[in-house]
Amino acid sequence: MTEQTPAISAFDISGRRALVTGGTSGIGAAIAAGLADAGCHVVAAGLPAADAVPDPTGPIQTVDLDVTDANAVERLAKGLDRLDILVNAAGIIRRGAEFDLDSFERVVDVNLTGTMRLCTACRPLLARQGGSIVNVASMLSFFGGGLVPAYSASKGGIAQLTKSLAIAWATDGIRVNAIAPGWIATALTQGLQDDPARSEAILSRTPLKRWGTPQDLTGAVIFLCSPAAAFVTGTVLPVDGGYLIS
Ligand code: NAI
Repeated sequence: MTEQTPAISAFDISGRRALVTGGTSGIGAAIAAGLADAGCHVVAAGLPAADAVPDPTGPIQTVDLDVTDANAVERLAKGLDRLDILVNAAGIIRRGAEFDLDSFERVVDVNLTGTMRLCTACRPLLARQGGSIVNVASMLSFFGGGLVPAYSASKGGIAQLTKSLAIAWATDGIRVNAIAPGWIATALTQGLQDDPARSEAILSRTPLKRWGTPQDLTGAVIFLCSPAAAFVTGTVLPVDGGYLIS
């Protein structure tokens, strides 16, 4: 086998411990699998997924977690003996229903406050390792969504939270970044995928002319968690097939 050059080994994250919320389906599950593939030991935390097949001997340990349950988040963090990487991918959208204040609060609680809960609970563990956080933002971190005011507000908040924590926790040695996925084919966007007019509108504005896959996000996450990104903090990295710039 050829030896890794320094430029390549800077992307090596093998042996790291990672926690991925929303790790039981869609984008979170793909990120958990990508991190495991890169040699990490991964805890994938989320609501129980009907199609999840737990493998107690594999590199991914699946645990049930509601990110709105502060005690459960604390318990999970306290149960970890080491953490190098936290990925906050848990998220919900209530298209068309978010003008109802209960729905609004729920979406913000899961997407934004849930992320802050995890960051806060995991901070001491991450500080010990000089670890890193990757939050999951969105195209709606950059522009508004007329049907999804709570989702847009929460994702705009994720971008600002990412920048703020990056400043606040830099002295702890914790880097905080976000990825902003474009339109990715998952359960969350099933309604849009099934609507020919909306799907066509999305594809026609996407220079790479396709829906993203959850696997499209894994390389960006591995980069942001790796020594190759040692001087990268507070950034929101679009992984969007060019949607934002068109
Ligand atoms: P998904 O519906 O497949 O996954 C959402 C995940 O969040 C699931 O694993 C679910 O268990 C978890 N979750 C929901 N409520 C939770 C709670 N209270 N506690 C813990 N976990 C909870 O959808 P997808 O697309 O994989 O979404 C993942 C993230 O990516 C979300 O933050 C979403 O906003 C974001 N995103 C998705 C895009 C897309 O086009 N699919 C685009 C931009 C961002």
